[in-house]
Amino acid sequence: MINLTISRECLADIKSDLEIIVVIDQQWKHPFVHDKKLLKKVGFGASQDEVCLLVERSRLYVGASSLQPEALRPAIASAVRSLLGKKAYKHIKVATYLTESTSTTSLQAMVEGIRLGSYSFTTYKSKKITSAIKKVTLSLEGYQPHTLSLEEAVAALHRGEIIADATNFTRDIVNTTPDDCYPQVMATIAKKLAKHATLNCQILKPKALRAEKMESLLAVARASRHTPRVIHLSHTPKNPKAVISLVGKGLTYDSGGLSLKPADFMVTMKSDKSGGSAVLGIMKAVAELNLPIEVHGFVGAVENMIGGDAYKPDDVLIAKNGKTIEVRNTDAEGRLVLADLLCYAQQEVKADYLFDFATLTGAAVVGVGHYTSAVMGKSEEIKSLVIQGAKASGELATALDFNPYLAKTLKSEIADICNISNTRYGGAITAGQFLSEFVDTTHQAKWAHIDIAGPAFVEHPWGENPHGASGAGVRLMLHTLEQIIQAHA
Ligand code: BES
Ligand code: ZN
Ligand code: ZN
Repeated sequence: MINLTISRECLADIKSDLEIIVVIDQQWKHPFVHDKKLLKKVGFGASQDEVCLLVERSRLYVGASSLQPEALRPAIASAVRSLLGKKAYKHIKVATYLTESTSTTSLQAMVEGIRLGSYSFTTYKSKKITSAIKKVTLSLEGYQPHTLSLEEAVAALHRGEIIADATNFTRDIVNTTPDDCYPQVMATIAKKLAKHATLNCQILKPKALRAEKMESLLAVARASRHTPRVIHLSHTPKNPKAVISLVGKGLTYDSGGLSLKPADFMVTMKSDKSGGSAVLGIMKAVAELNLPIEVHGFVGAVENMIGGDAYKPDDVLIAKNGKTIEVRNTDAEGRLVLADLLCYAQQEVKADYLFDFATLTGAAVVGVGHYTSAVMGKSEEIKSLVIQGAKASGELATALDFNPYLAKTLKSEIADICNISNTRYGGAITAGQFLSEFVDTTHQAKWAHIDIAGPAFVEHPWGENPHGASGAGVRLMLHTLEQIIQAHA
């Protein structure tokens, strides 16, 4: 684990193995850019995230398009990631790249970049390539003059560390293989987390799930040798400013069930637990930051498999709220799990805000790309709250609006609703509109559904994210919660 410290000393006085220098908006004239000629000679263009290590000078340059947090975070992360496995660089120093108006958020972004960029998942490697960095010193000597005090800087560092560590915690869970991370294991992770972070934790096993009439969730789980779990974690400070429920899809594996996925599409489906894993990561940070809000995290941990006991296309399931669902495709299983889980969350907690996170549809990836989450719901206000939170966090999110015409495509001839739409198009929205059938009238205006199928798991590094799990949703929600707290101050 990297030790991060803030220092009042100017850069030149800090001893280190390497200095990281960020070239902002190709400002080659800035005094921090000592090696302009050499950099030009080796073809370094200082474009966003481009790195250049000058070994003999003990300097690592990286480009950033601006001083804004969303440019600094990936730049610093790319610089740190380029040092993975390089054993010579144990102590790094870097100046603070702040502006008067963004000072604490930019510093927090730099800290997040360091922690997120040094992440590597090596559980299954014999030869582990990890970050050798032991210590990073951030000098208050600034790229621009600023008035950030040591106290403010330390507080920003603390927030950045907790948020990035929670993201890495989520990444670890998602990257773990389905035979090592099945529903019971997710429940164990939650229990362990509750102990460390002082959260309440309740686990529902199949018997309790049956008693709660969660037959839709149970049907999806039926063919797996791993029985399902519902996890409920809660953070309950005195006099909370607001009550928030978080609901996550935790499909520890999605084979598609009897509507089996084609071979190529099944690979990476260990990542179908990303929504639930994000909820666990968010709860960890909420507790560590001791946020003055009551937060409940619900995770539906289930494996979708095939077998003689599998649920089938043609089955009709009765969800917890009594609605009947005609199953026409067993690969649209996430919404069946979330239907019951949303009902359970609303029964247990009357929340001011209700958010769900899910790798729900391939259509979301087709619609908005690999890097962006799709935000849906019936309240413009809640959708824009989440999108603002995403912006502040460095995650990408955009709204997909519901409409009454797509809602009709979920009609069933024999049950209350179908689990798939009768059209190939607009699949992310129809999935969201399906979920809305399980959000009661008191929660409709408080709810947002966040489809993280695009960014949750990408097989190449991008920005501050490595190969594999990104921890999508964690930073987005923590920044959204921050805004909720400010609004209720
Ligand atoms: N887990 C998948 C969605 C998914 C696809 C996530 C690709 C990440 C990457 C979900 O359970 C699923 O299979 N959805 C189907 C729905 C369809 C049958 C209506 C899909 O998107 O194809
Ligand atoms: Zn599926
Ligand atoms: Zn799925």
